[in-house]
Amino acid sequence: PTVPTVIPVVVHVIHRGGSENIADAQIKSQIDVLNNDYRKKNPDTAKVPGAFQPLVADAFVEFALATIDPQGQPTSGITRTLTNVQQFGTDNAMKFTAQGGHDSWDTTRYLNMWVCPELIDGPRQLLGYAQFPGGLPATDGVAIIHNAFGTSGTSAPPFNLGRTATHEVGHWLDLYHIWGDAAGCNTDDKVGDTPVQDHENFGKPTFPHVSCHNAPSGDMFMNYMDYVDDDSMFMFTPGQVARIRATLAGPRSMIGK
Ligand code: ARG
Ligand code: ZN
Ligand code: CA
Repeated sequence: PTVPTVIPVVVHVIHRGGSENIADAQIKSQIDVLNNDYRKKNPDTAKVPGAFQPLVADAFVEFALATIDPQGQPTSGITRTLTNVQQFGTDNAMKFTAQGGHDSWDTTRYLNMWVCPELIDGPRQLLGYAQFPGGLPATDGVAIIHNAFGTSGTSAPPFNLGRTATHEVGHWLDLYHIWGDAAGCNTDDKVGDTPVQDHENFGKPTFPHVSCHNAPSGDMFMNYMDYVDDDSMFMFTPGQVARIRATLAGPRSMIGK
């Protein structure tokens, strides 16, 4: 494509009256990161190893806080909800006013992002989670914990560069984890130009990390769809962009309309 798709975003801040009621500036810092990462404008593409440099792709997707709400009224694209809920989980409670969250805005036209005070998956602390295309309309969107959202305010290292949203919006645009979710070499992400890799990578790996006969370059652990730290993920590939474009032409074609 030559014309980028602009995705209207509504950010629902669900808070308990403390610092997790993040400032507008922190929200805007997150939108800026998305606009860099999905347009290959992030300066850290320079850190992609030479072998993978030809595979760094521009997704031609841009993001803007919504300026018109579902009723046609002017809006900041931000809602704020005081909640009694201590911890949110993966049951989508943050997506319903009746469950201590905030109802989604028309998910066919807006990308809904919920910022949560605490987020867990069973015993595990969660940075965020996303719904793939084709799910229930009411729960469509991404949920992210406040301290892994944006680059200022409460955002905390090593997840303070806004890459949790880059990763979760990748799922929302139909990208799978780069290792194919199950460990082993028989599962992949249905993308041809990302090397088959055994399992997820964490932290700040050193290049190359070889698995699944993918020598010499090894895993593309610096891809946004791995699990490395924010300062270690830098890229999407043309194959991933093809999936993103197919999603925007297909199941998400009403976005921004
Ligand atoms: N759903 C993943 C988790 O909660 C998100 C990982 C995002 N990675 C990152 N570096 N921000 O663990
Ligand atoms: Zn993920
Ligand atoms: Ca692949």
